[in-house]
Amino acid sequence: MEKNKFQNPSGMHDILPQDEFYYQKIYNTGQKILDFYGFEKIDTPILEMADLFSRGVGEATEVVEKQMYTLRTKGKDLLALRPEGTAPIMRAYLQHGMHTWLQPVKLWYFGPFFRHERPQAGRYRQFNQFGVEFLGEKSPIADAQIILILTAILEDLGFKNLVVKINSIGDSNCRPVYKKILLSFLKNKKSELCSDCQERIKTNPLRILDCKNAKCRQILAEAPQTINYLCPECHQHFKEVLEILDEIKVSYTLDSHLVRGFDYYTNTVFEVELAPVKKEVAEKKEEEIIAEGAVPVEAPKVEEKEELQLGSLAGGGRYDKLAKSLGGGDIPACGWGIGVERVVEAMKARKMKPNEPVVQVFLAQIGILAKRKTLRLLEDFRKERIRVAESLGRDSLKNQLARADRLGAKYTLILGQKEALDGEIIIRNMENGQQTTVDQKDIIKEVKKRLQQENK
Ligand code: HAM
Repeated sequence: MEKNKFQNPSGMHDILPQDEFYYQKIYNTGQKILDFYGFEKIDTPILEMADLFSRGVGEATEVVEKQMYTLRTKGKDLLALRPEGTAPIMRAYLQHGMHTWLQPVKLWYFGPFFRHERPQAGRYRQFNQFGVEFLGEKSPIADAQIILILTAILEDLGFKNLVVKINSIGDSNCRPVYKKILLSFLKNKKSELCSDCQERIKTNPLRILDCKNAKCRQILAEAPQTINYLCPECHQHFKEVLEILDEIKVSYTLDSHLVRGFDYYTNTVFEVELAPVKKEVAEKKEEEIIAEGAVPVEAPKVEEKEELQLGSLAGGGRYDKLAKSLGGGDIPACGWGIGVERVVEAMKARKMKPNEPVVQVFLAQIGILAKRKTLRLLEDFRKERIRVAESLGRDSLKNQLARADRLGAKYTLILGQKEALDGEIIIRNMENGQQTTVDQKDIIKEVKKRLQQENK
């Protein structure tokens, strides 16, 4: 075949059928928990006015300055592919007068976001986020509850060893004071910082705190900490968040370098990471060596490698001033976003399987008449909500039985030429190979009976 000329754009990927099961599992697990906690789903457009993000997220943030995909429409509007979900949801809250609804308004979303970043493991240009926004509530209970829900979703997915990093970056009262103190700490160190951080001194000094450059980290290890400069209100809020987390037994780590990348954050900020697992890279397993007929002289070599670090699985925080920066009133709010691709990759690295649909019955056919009858029969099973797999493209019974076996079907129904003519069908127990011939009109009843017995 000619080599495919067209490839997916860099940093944007196809989600192939076998991976869709992971996405579905994340969606279903999250939805169940959020339903319980009274969150309702919202969808906003993929495109928004670019200004929404410059004003909401911040002109000088990396996401707006360097990573936003923008386009000019024929009507001359400047639109942006949404790089994140919080500003659009606050826009929707204000636009639809949600402040007149019963407060708080608790929303969740799942969908694609776009950032023009350098593609690498866990970092894409199109990625999915599963997010929540808890709007119209200023109590620290809200901060703690959304963190609890976030860990509940990740734990229900099967993750252990979650690391919740948390910090408070204060608000417009105390943050300017802290910024001054940080800048004076950095005064004589500017030339030692990386070029990005030298720029950040002018544009966004707080972001220097979470720079990943080793030299910057070394310098910043001694930096003054935000929590020591909080005003009494912010101090009290953060203290209560931590007390509630202690009470509800959500473990966390204080991280004085956590500041997050968007200007809308005030007070609590947090991220969730996974403690890395050791990845076993067996060069060759013992059974494989024996199967090849070689005598193992020594135990097979197993190399241990640190799991590739994907960055945070989720991040969020409180953003009490976002509504005002978009022209709205005083709407305290908090939320988080889970990076779905990172969760899928972490699930794969931990060999956590998504639930693939269980196939209990396989329908095999031989001959053209049987093939035609199969279509009708499949529809009858669908109406009875019994999942039946088939392989209409195949003719050989051997092939079809092999597929039924691979899918783990308990029963295979065989419709041969003779059975198709006589109005009968064979039911084969795949475990012991026993076959019984049944009237076609009774087959659904018979299958139901057998499946019920299986479930007892
Ligand atoms: P964020 O930290 O930018 O926050 O993104 C949330 C999560 O999305 C990250 O922790 C990461 O797992 C994932 N993520 C971010 N960028 C990429 C990328 N380029 N490729 C793959 N995954 C990525 C927000 O977006 C905020 N809106 C979260 C929030 C909601 N804060 C309050 N409410």
